Amino acid sequence: MGAKLKLPSSTLFIWLIISTCALTIFYSKLVPSSSPPLVPCNLFAGKWVIDPNRPRPIYDETCPFHRNAWNCLRNQRDNMEVINSWKWVPEDCELNEIDPLEFMGVMRDKRIGFVGDSLNENFLVSLLCILRVADTGAKKWKRKGAWRGAYFPKFNVTVAYHRAVLLAKYQWSEGDEVKGVHRVDVDIPAKDWEDIGGFYDILIFNTGHWWGYDKFPKESPLAFYQGGKPIVPAPDMLEGLQIVVKNMAAYIQKEFPKTLKFWRLQSPRHFHGGDWNQNGSCLFDKPLEDSELDLWFDPSYNGVNKEARVINELIIKALQGTDIEVLDLTHLSEFRADAHPAIWLGKKDAVAVWGEDCMHWCLPGVPDTWVDILWQHVHYRLGQPVPENKHVV
Ligand SMILES: *[C@@H]1O[C@H](CO)[C@@H](O)[C@H](O)[C@H]1NC(C)=O
Ligand SMILES: *[C@@H]1O[C@H](CO)[C@@H](O)[C@H](O)[C@H]1NC(C)=O
Repeated sequence: MGAKLKLPSSTLFIWLIISTCALTIFYSKLVPSSSPPLVPCNLFAGKWVIDPNRPRPIYDETCPFHRNAWNCLRNQRDNMEVINSWKWVPEDCELNEIDPLEFMGVMRDKRIGFVGDSLNENFLVSLLCILRVADTGAKKWKRKGAWRGAYFPKFNVTVAYHRAVLLAKYQWSEGDEVKGVHRVDVDIPAKDWEDIGGFYDILIFNTGHWWGYDKFPKESPLAFYQGGKPIVPAPDMLEGLQIVVKNMAAYIQKEFPKTLKFWRLQSPRHFHGGDWNQNGSCLFDKPLEDSELDLWFDPSYNGVNKEARVINELIIKALQGTDIEVLDLTHLSEFRADAHPAIWLGKKDAVAVWGEDCMHWCLPGVPDTWVDILWQHVHYRLGQPVPENKHVV
């Protein structure tokens, strides 16, 4: 406190300017601006916390992109308010909720594509309904082999879904056998997405739910072909899955070099007391506890919902060494036994005919959190920090 600066103030001022410039140059050299910043924390590990003040949902049953069976508000599913009060809290940071207007600013003149099965369609519908908050003039869009999608004229943004449940091309083939086989060409993409090269700026892939004997019974199995010839010895279904993922990943890397590429892992099912065709049920009013997850999903317990983790392991191995970023949406979704459409399917006989739906998700609901995570990852991959939460509604 005692020592007094003897420098005249003008000298001090000049010195301050010089040192500031020097520091700025030093730090800009230290932190190269070209390398993309990584997502600052692992968004996939955390817990669900109930927050009655959570500003969700931001869309309702009137969104024109809903699929009837997932439109849980319209179908008057019990508990929707509670379902949407749970907030995913990563261990080491906050997960901001997407700001549709801000995201549309970033996405202007861009196109986002989903390729895979109905769980990716569930993801798409959530994203469409969220983005529509920023542009209510959104119109249905279906081209380039897309199953469905939307165009947002205000921002010139297109978001679409290409249905390709195995990703690879497959077809019924009579063969010489009585029952025939489903021929899968592991190195040829399904025609639904073979023509999208260069069209999308961001692509999100998945597959997994169709790789089971309920979809392809042993009497009419999958038969795997590579280079037009049967693979020998014939792989079983899960070996075939891994071969397909490897081949599709190689194709994706070659065909879409400039596209931001994501692969979202399995969406877990929650059939309790039996599988989907054995009266399995999911009438839960809160998420599972951390301590319950292994019992439901660890393959060593052989429960009806074990396949998500089994398939994830195969997919992660098959994607190693690629530039396709894995979105591990499985763990956070494993908790949410409470958030499926269950018996509220919007049709009188649906449950009697099909059983409960403990596989897809209510909208609004858990896929909105998948969208929050996708938003953060897109931001970081584009080299832009995620802004603070600004709630649109
Ligand atoms: C809209 O975006 C596409 C790319 O997604 C671009 O080719 C096209 O020129 C854009 N149209 C306008 C009117 O800016
Ligand atoms: C499912 O429930 C119905 C009606 O209660 C019953 O008739 C049927 O046998 C059950 N199916 C199985 C596989 O348990």
